[in-house]
Amino acid sequence: MPNIVVVGAQWGDEGKGRIVDLIAEKVDVVVRYQGGSNAGHTIVTNGQTIILHHIPSGILREGKLSVIGNGVVIDPQIFLEEIERLRAAGYKVDEENLKLSDRAHVVMPYHKQVDIAREEKMGRNRIGTTGRGIGPVYEDKVARRGIKVGDLLHPESFSARLRAVLEERNLYLTRVLQKEPLEFEKIFEEYIRYGEQIKGFVTDTSKLLNDLIDKRKSILFEGAQGALLDVDFGTYPYVTSSSAGSGGACTGTGVGPTKIDMVLGVAKAYTTRVGEGPFPSEISGEIGEKLRESGGEYGSTTGRPRRCGWFDAVSLRYSARVNGITAIALTKLDVLSKFNKIKICTAYKYRGEIIKDFPSHIEILKNCLPVYEEIDGWEKDLSDVKDIKDLPYQARAYIDRIQEATGVPIWIVSLGASREKVIFLKDNLL
Ligand code: IMO
Ligand code: MG
Repeated sequence: MPNIVVVGAQWGDEGKGRIVDLIAEKVDVVVRYQGGSNAGHTIVTNGQTIILHHIPSGILREGKLSVIGNGVVIDPQIFLEEIERLRAAGYKVDEENLKLSDRAHVVMPYHKQVDIAREEKMGRNRIGTTGRGIGPVYEDKVARRGIKVGDLLHPESFSARLRAVLEERNLYLTRVLQKEPLEFEKIFEEYIRYGEQIKGFVTDTSKLLNDLIDKRKSILFEGAQGALLDVDFGTYPYVTSSSAGSGGACTGTGVGPTKIDMVLGVAKAYTTRVGEGPFPSEISGEIGEKLRESGGEYGSTTGRPRRCGWFDAVSLRYSARVNGITAIALTKLDVLSKFNKIKICTAYKYRGEIIKDFPSHIEILKNCLPVYEEIDGWEKDLSDVKDIKDLPYQARAYIDRIQEATGVPIWIVSLGASREKVIFLKDNLL
């Protein structure tokens, strides 16, 4: 079994949880490598809808190990609630099947406060973050003043570190953001308690993963957010603060690139985006509204309505290039059954010129107009389709055109949220 990275190829919400859940059956370990509670990975199984924020989507498969790597940022309160919710739904979550890196950074109360207050202050220029403290916690990590999961297990050094960091953060909160300062004792006690509650899961996950690879166990690396929200290759500054692309799989787990065999990009059959930032194939008005309602396009973490648009082959070619994507899982094709004409954006027009490469600077991207090809819709319900041969010919033509326009083979097509609503187009690549 190969080791495989599953990465979002658009602006997040591509259906990564659904695809990871599908492939998890065939691997031994699923590891999350970046992001935190800003992610909302939705899986529908046995009529239950489960939304995961930190915990890998492999947790729903019996006998699989779930690992939260060092690149993830943990909000202990949300993490513990997530465990309780899974247990209440009948899933096994314990120290045997869930491991958490001692190197992962911890989201502290001041990170959330700063995130929310900053967005308020920025007004029209806001990023549209999830308000989960993600930017500020990664900021502290890089500035070398972060608190790690392992720190919560060492009260004395944690106390000294928190005191120093809080002093600085309180100055920022009060002087710059005009908010109330936070109290040391309260945070210290709360987080020491979290340390007690999570310590059974905590370990050196890089060592664990490499040992398992040596024993020929197979690993699935589950990305959060998407390639176009990556801090380096996304539509900066309208991005998240981590390496959401496939490169993050190495830095976020401590597994070297020589151990990774394939990169599966997950893309929706159309495009969505939550929050601010350029989106060339966005559709406003009635059609955009219809797409949102048909696809249930509301954020699983924040409930915000997602912006909707047609499939963008330009940005997908780019995602494939910067992430080394070797195959695509195309999700939510069934949602397009409601449309008699479907468009694919195959190029952009910038100042009257046609461009085929995704621009590297936002000043160009935000002035790009989409160039569309129009394709006939199939207007048939796809929910009972089990084989590629049973797809309406227009749907097959749509899939073929996407493969051609992106230059990447489509391996999996998902036709609904539940596990069985899926077809494999190629011989099993695993
Ligand atoms: P999953 O893993 C879609 C977006 C936010 C905002 C930007 C920065 O479920 O696909 P942040 O809170 O990360 O600082 O916000 O990134 N964003 C997501 N959009 N899916 C996600 O996760 C996202 N996580 C963050 O809307 O535009
Ligand atoms: Mg989501």
